[in-house]
Amino acid sequence: MSKYFHITTYGCQMNVHESEKIAGILSEMGYCACEEIEDADIAVFNTCCIRENAENHAYGNIGMLKKLKARKKDMIIAVGGCLPQQIGKADVLNKKFPYVDIIFGTHNLGKLKEFILKRQSGKKTVVEIEDGDGVICEDDKPLRTSYPNAWINITYGCNNFCSYCIVPYVRGRERSRRSQDIVAEAKALIEEGYKEITLLGQNVNSYGNGTDDLTFPELLEKIAKLDGKFRLRFMTSHPKDFSEELARVISENRKICRAVHLPVQSGSDEILRKMNRRYTATDYIKKVEILKKYVPDCAITTDLIVGFPTETDKDFGDTLNLVKRAGFSSAFTFVYSRREGTAAAEMEGQIPEEVSKERIMRLVELVNSQTRAQSAEYVGKTVEILCEDFDKKRGMFLGRDEYGRMAYFASEKNLIGKFVNVKINAANGVSLTGDVADISE
Ligand code: 5AD
Ligand code: SF4
Repeated sequence: MSKYFHITTYGCQMNVHESEKIAGILSEMGYCACEEIEDADIAVFNTCCIRENAENHAYGNIGMLKKLKARKKDMIIAVGGCLPQQIGKADVLNKKFPYVDIIFGTHNLGKLKEFILKRQSGKKTVVEIEDGDGVICEDDKPLRTSYPNAWINITYGCNNFCSYCIVPYVRGRERSRRSQDIVAEAKALIEEGYKEITLLGQNVNSYGNGTDDLTFPELLEKIAKLDGKFRLRFMTSHPKDFSEELARVISENRKICRAVHLPVQSGSDEILRKMNRRYTATDYIKKVEILKKYVPDCAITTDLIVGFPTETDKDFGDTLNLVKRAGFSSAFTFVYSRREGTAAAEMEGQIPEEVSKERIMRLVELVNSQTRAQSAEYVGKTVEILCEDFDKKRGMFLGRDEYGRMAYFASEKNLIGKFVNVKINAANGVSLTGDVADISE
């Protein structure tokens, strides 16, 4: 009889890819993926703690499993990732959810098989959190779930210590994978038929950092020169390390998408200083200008935080101005979330929730108006879309152009994994709809 696993993933792309690695381990052990958690013999929660609501979301979902576990005593529940990696949180989880079988951190995901076997051999709750930075394991074979897209880690961890951010505490110092391993992985994926490769790191621009012969622009160019028709993306770029050399490499290699995610966080110099971002609003705009000089049509997306401690109306106004000046094509907007253990958590001047809520509404409205205006310009044009999925509710296929804009279109044939030229006939806010003109590959 088949045995099943189910993984619930919270947070960023990094976690989505790590869940693919967890899925790889479980399928090697003979488990198959199932859609409903009720059917699972092993349920894994791959958690995130970047904001309080991500953490609460995981707590809520784990709590809901109590009844199921009471009915299915042999079911194994494992909670891993960033949440238990925080100091003291593994104990909190263990006390709050005594029916959880395995608690593991970000640095020992590769040992999940060992933890499962330990638990199955009768040991009570297995709690395994490793401190330090974790080793880079090249043996994990991810069970990829996002064809035609494939994620590749190039760095792990982060050295930047932005004052609001928990990531350096739960993912350790920055480590780079060897460039030859990364290039070999990309080559193999393209040969397997993947059409979009995304290089992942908390700050891809500091790749190598003295430990590899290649810098990030060199690595990117090497992958962009591999044979085959594919798209190449990367994220995330810290603006302080975004170089002219990188802008040049993007402009000279057509396989690299004209889309850069460049989180600015705030438009106020004072807030940026307190955030320990190590650039000013003017420095940021200069980076945008360099990028646009080399790649005039490049779409730039960003992350923004409102309600950072001491943020005044004037600081917030500076953020609105910067959003207008940079001309972002879209943005992820967040209300500042106080994270225990970070420098900002100790700062005076925490902002009341109602002030942050009002600010984020105004910010979202501005970002949306820019996104809508840019979408409207697509109408009547034909764009190349990489078909990624089928939306059952709409009964349409969907995919993105190289700038990251989502488009929906109908087709009798399955087009997932194909490059499709789509004539755009309507723009509805963030996304577009159109008709298939032809299929290029
Ligand atoms: N509160 C709100 N947003 C945060 N981010 C990181 N830490 C916090 C926090 N404590 C946001 C940043 C980052 C993105 C991944 O998450 O904008 O770029
Ligand atoms: Fe967090 Fe800053 Fe590192 Fe990004 S660069 S993960 S925001 S500390």
